[in-house]
Amino acid sequence: MSLSCYTKSTRPFEGQKPGTSGLRKAVKVFQLENYTENFVQCILSAMGGALTGCTLVVGGDGRYFGKKAVDIIIKMCAANGVRKVLVGQNGILSTPCVSCMIRKYKTAVGIVLTASHNPGGPDADFGIKFNISNGGPAPDAVTNKIYELSKNIVEYRISPDVRCDISLIGKREFVVDSRPFTVEVIDSVEDYVEYMKEIFDFGIIKDILHGSKGKPLKVLINAMHGVTGPYVRRIFLEELKATPDSVVNIEPLEDFGGHHPDPNLTYAADLVQALKGGDYGFGAAFDGDGDRNMILGHKAFFVTPSDSVAVIADNTDCIPYFKKNGVKGLARSMPTGCAIDRVGEKKGMEVFEVPTGWKYFGNLMDAGRLSICGEESFGTGSDHIREKDGIWAVLAWLSILAVRNMSVEQVLLSHWGTYGRNFFTRYDYENCESAPCNEMMTALDAMSGDASMVGKKLSHGDKSYTIAKIDNFEYKDPIDGAVAKKQGVRILMSDGSRVVFRLSGTGSSGATVRMYIESYESDSSTFTKDAQEVLKPLVEIALKLSKLGDYTGRQKPTVIT
Ligand code: G1P
Ligand code: ZN
Repeated sequence: MSLSCYTKSTRPFEGQKPGTSGLRKAVKVFQLENYTENFVQCILSAMGGALTGCTLVVGGDGRYFGKKAVDIIIKMCAANGVRKVLVGQNGILSTPCVSCMIRKYKTAVGIVLTASHNPGGPDADFGIKFNISNGGPAPDAVTNKIYELSKNIVEYRISPDVRCDISLIGKREFVVDSRPFTVEVIDSVEDYVEYMKEIFDFGIIKDILHGSKGKPLKVLINAMHGVTGPYVRRIFLEELKATPDSVVNIEPLEDFGGHHPDPNLTYAADLVQALKGGDYGFGAAFDGDGDRNMILGHKAFFVTPSDSVAVIADNTDCIPYFKKNGVKGLARSMPTGCAIDRVGEKKGMEVFEVPTGWKYFGNLMDAGRLSICGEESFGTGSDHIREKDGIWAVLAWLSILAVRNMSVEQVLLSHWGTYGRNFFTRYDYENCESAPCNEMMTALDAMSGDASMVGKKLSHGDKSYTIAKIDNFEYKDPIDGAVAKKQGVRILMSDGSRVVFRLSGTGSSGATVRMYIESYESDSSTFTKDAQEVLKPLVEIALKLSKLGDYTGRQKPTVIT
């Protein structure tokens, strides 16, 4: 029986503009009549001719509204000429897994249903992200097209009788408007786990967990009730045979247990507490959709994400994937600490500085110029896929600990011994009023154009810095020449220290100011100092210069990482 398609009329919604990583809004907004349908239609329409007959991967982090969105997407794909939809069982697929599957099955595109680390549940956030055929987030040119379409949309196409139970693995065949249409529900973790076993040597990781070379390394992996739960179970419990008490919060929950599923010192405080107890030698946590990670050592020794990616880049000989494929180049997002630059310099490799957001790494990887990259926002990854990858980062770290036979702290001390330490911190001022934050950014932008600022000496206590350069970061993609302007105001000091201000592009309402502070120290007596203490003078200078307190009315940040 051929199922019918219908064209439904609709009206545009304001603000369907994808941000740093997809469209994120409150669930209640996505639940508005036609809101989700409009945006999905714009994604499909933006694909143009590539849409007809293509295969599309869909899945998400299991948050509230995810299953409903999968249902809408399947029905709309059927009506828009898509040949096949590959969907994770129960709509579950981590963001890295979607990227892995798009590449493995050479499908045209993917849709990831996640608001990443934003809270979930009926009163929290939802998100839709579009990934292109290289497996990575759609670049600005594509998301701008989607946004433009959203402003003028008058109708969408849907086939409401395509019904599919996504809790059951298997293929369902339909005929829609006389065209064949297939939905295949697949195991959510299989492909990803197979790939991780190719990239890493699971044997050596198993060995350190079980102590074949000495004392077993006791680990604690916290999935924060996000999508990584099933992946953690399969990889750590079944493959690596870690003891059951090595993993916690591995049941994905639609509201992440009411928490922010964000792996940092504030929102993963329970992991920090558990590690402080001293029983564990290694701890890790992931965000809602599994692309972020936090790494801790014994007694909660914190590895900044900026250091984490630098250490991985410096230890690629511990990872079979890099031994086989080589390391082509390194990159970080602009606000990320510059530790990785020093590794690149020593190894004679290109190091790219791109705007915030993983989408900017994709072209460089596709062109064979980038292998390892990271963001200070707990994102670490490589060219094995085109997303950051939390579990990959943890397996990379465990491989390094195994091969080097060192603790997390020893690895960092040895790294700083070679390269010096880039102290780094980020202050977030969440949910501020938008207007004054925009004013502050405008004022900082004006400062960046004011030549008299260069050479200015800024002091706090007995610490002084001299401004060497201020700009509003602009990036020209070396591969396709696309230009991204006004990506954040950078204040670069003569000693290599940096202050960066930008507004978040992932919030669902209001404004979040991010202030990034970095200071480089080569004197080994400073390496073990507390980062907040070392950075305090520069923090004070940055607050004074930006008048952040006056603009936002905030005396303190909501989160410090
Ligand atoms: C934040 C991070 C950024 C990351 C993005 C998606 O974006 O700062 O590095 O790529 O989330 O995980 P922001 O809210 O700052 O725009
Ligand atoms: Zn995420």
